[in-house]
Amino acid sequence: MPIDFHDQNNQSTYASREAEASWISTIGRYVPLQGKRVLDIGCGGGIYTKALALSGAAQVTGMDFSAEMLKGAAENCRDIPNISFARGNALDTGLKDGQFDIVLERALIHHIRDLGACFREAQRVLKPGGTFIIQDRTPEDCSLAGSPTHIRGYFFEKYPKLLEQEIQRRYSGSEVIDALRQTGFVLNAEFSYWETRKSYRDFEQLGLDLLNRTGRSLLFELTDDELSELVNFIGQHLASGQPIQEQDRWTVWIAEK
Ligand SMILES: C[S@@+](CC[C@H](N)C(=O)[O-])C[C@H]1O[C@@H](n2cnc3c(N)ncnc32)[C@H](O)[C@@H]1O
Repeated sequence: MPIDFHDQNNQSTYASREAEASWISTIGRYVPLQGKRVLDIGCGGGIYTKALALSGAAQVTGMDFSAEMLKGAAENCRDIPNISFARGNALDTGLKDGQFDIVLERALIHHIRDLGACFREAQRVLKPGGTFIIQDRTPEDCSLAGSPTHIRGYFFEKYPKLLEQEIQRRYSGSEVIDALRQTGFVLNAEFSYWETRKSYRDFEQLGLDLLNRTGRSLLFELTDDELSELVNFIGQHLASGQPIQEQDRWTVWIAEK
């Protein structure tokens, strides 16, 4: 069964880790953040809303269509004055035209069927010359083999049916670029980026994270028994008692209005 973003039990699933420092420095190399007004659409638990607000942005609005996600995000970002949250849909945010210097959509577009409508809405709320940052995994990113750092690859080695499902919901680089151009954006950059998702003391800690399906919408497709088998399978590939640094490969697109 797919993840239900509106279920209270999933409130903190995208709020339970911090963005790695090199994420902000990588984004900052392409897009100056200092003094900027930013909209983080599909903000989930506010991990990246927080990173942007603490890295020089003047004001960051985190938006999500799930009230439960926004509750988790508000808790995660409490005491940070330059953040606000609003409930809204990526296809129809309800925000005024031309307000933002930067719009971020991280790990959102694979949940969106009408990419054109989504990009038109981002363009509408951006100021002229504003920057649109999209980060998601393409089918190529998803198809990389498992390794002691690329844990996600083991999911597909164990359950090839998951890879089929995963690829079906992911956009290729050319689909994203075509939709950006059709919306009138100018593409400034497209690059691959290995992001450290989380560091674990040992396999036991990773196993718990997997069993809780934390921040991993794909694992909601598995039954509890299938998930336990997956955790055992991954355990067979990793040295016991050793720390694990889990990384995922992403594609980032940076476009200008
Ligand atoms: C995979 S999570 C990513 C969260 C966050 N951006 C991150 O990278 O940690 C996707 C988020 O997008 C939200 N979402 C999905 N479809 C949406 C839509 N049409 N409009 C607004 N939010 C949406 C979900 O509620 C969820 O919080």
